[in-house]
Amino acid sequence: MSNKTQKTALITGINGQDGSYLAELLLSKGYRVAGIVRRSSTETQQRIEHIRSKIEIYQADLLDQSSLAKVLADVQPDEVYNLAAMSFVPTSWQQPVLTAEFTAVGVTRMLEALRQSCPTAKFYQASSSEMYGKVLEVPQSENTPFYPRSPYGVAKAYGHYITVNYRESYSLFACSGILFNHESPRRGLEFVTRKITDAVAKIKLGLQSELRLGNLDARRDWGFAGDYVRAMWLMLQQDTADDFVIGTGETHTVREFVEIAFNHVGLDHQKYVVVDPKFYRPAEVDLLLGNPTKAMKTLGWKPDVSFNQLVTMMVDADLKLHAQTSKENLSKVA
Ligand code: NAP
Ligand code: GDD
Repeated sequence: MSNKTQKTALITGINGQDGSYLAELLLSKGYRVAGIVRRSSTETQQRIEHIRSKIEIYQADLLDQSSLAKVLADVQPDEVYNLAAMSFVPTSWQQPVLTAEFTAVGVTRMLEALRQSCPTAKFYQASSSEMYGKVLEVPQSENTPFYPRSPYGVAKAYGHYITVNYRESYSLFACSGILFNHESPRRGLEFVTRKITDAVAKIKLGLQSELRLGNLDARRDWGFAGDYVRAMWLMLQQDTADDFVIGTGETHTVREFVEIAFNHVGLDHQKYVVVDPKFYRPAEVDLLLGNPTKAMKTLGWKPDVSFNQLVTMMVDADLKLHAQTSKENLSKVA
């Protein structure tokens, strides 16, 4: 139970990469932290296992309006962070309708639930640089028009605009954080950065022989997830609700990420990387580069982890993970 001065936060997608870092940050600030997970037949809350006893978990689904309203009414949060979504861009071409239900209309369901159950709570929407798509300006700021290139990007643009609309229609404290790509050792294995660092570690340990990738020329503004959840929190500590771009202001190709990762373990990437058109996308986002000036000035936010530090942190974490797993497998055989 919360005491009067303690703030309560509710996080949808608490079991995701960002949800787990945000929960840690809010616990460190003394918050009561509640999270929403969708029902699953197995308990797979790996990313929050280490803080499980300190947080409250509720079952609800972005597809189910009444489940969201009930959790918000029960928890009575001061701050709501809507991080849940179908977040993998290629899947959005395979499941476009479901992507729209989760990633677009799911935001309206959250906002409606908030309006009914706790209208004074502050709301954060996880918007995305994927909305800039075929970019109309370089670098991209809060004023750059959107040109999404995937069903995911289109769904996120809806989520952004409905957040702005509910702020303007109902005077809700609702912010949209337009976050550029952010990664960590907790990143899902299908995203390019983690796919690379996982493979580099396995190749180094003799557990894998090649790495098949798609477009090596795509450019992204990559930062560290731990830095980015701090920006989410800062947005909800302001006096007025607003929208902010969060990025590093640097862009790198997938090829550069590959080179640094392989170099870090003393391997030549050219011997292991195979370009496989299977991983090309129907419509690609070629270049993302954020302009976080507004966030730096207004929120006092800046990233602490550099691109090189991010790559090597992820490779080191995967090396440790796979070395440990190999050791455990060997001891089972012995
Ligand atoms: P993630 O690791 O894929 O986490 C997404 C979470 O949403 C998962 O825990 C997932 O649950 C949950 N979820 C999905 N569908 C749901 C549903 N119908 N009901 C309830 N929960 C559901 O993503 P992330 O990297 O942490 O990103 C967090 C948010 O920021 C997402 O909205 C993403 O689109 C957005 N974003 C991410 C980035 C980035 O670079 N990471 C950049 C911009 C915006 P399960 O654990 O059950 O799958
Ligand atoms: N996933 C993947 N797998 N991507 C590859 C591969 C591969 O084998 N080879 C090259 N790429 C390229 C993709 O074509 C894309 O241009 C780039 O690597 C990054 O892909 P992802 O890591 O899958 O991320 P994303 O940029 O599509 O989307 C991420 O960032 C968005 C913010 O811009 C996700 O986290 C989204 O949820 C987020 O909104």
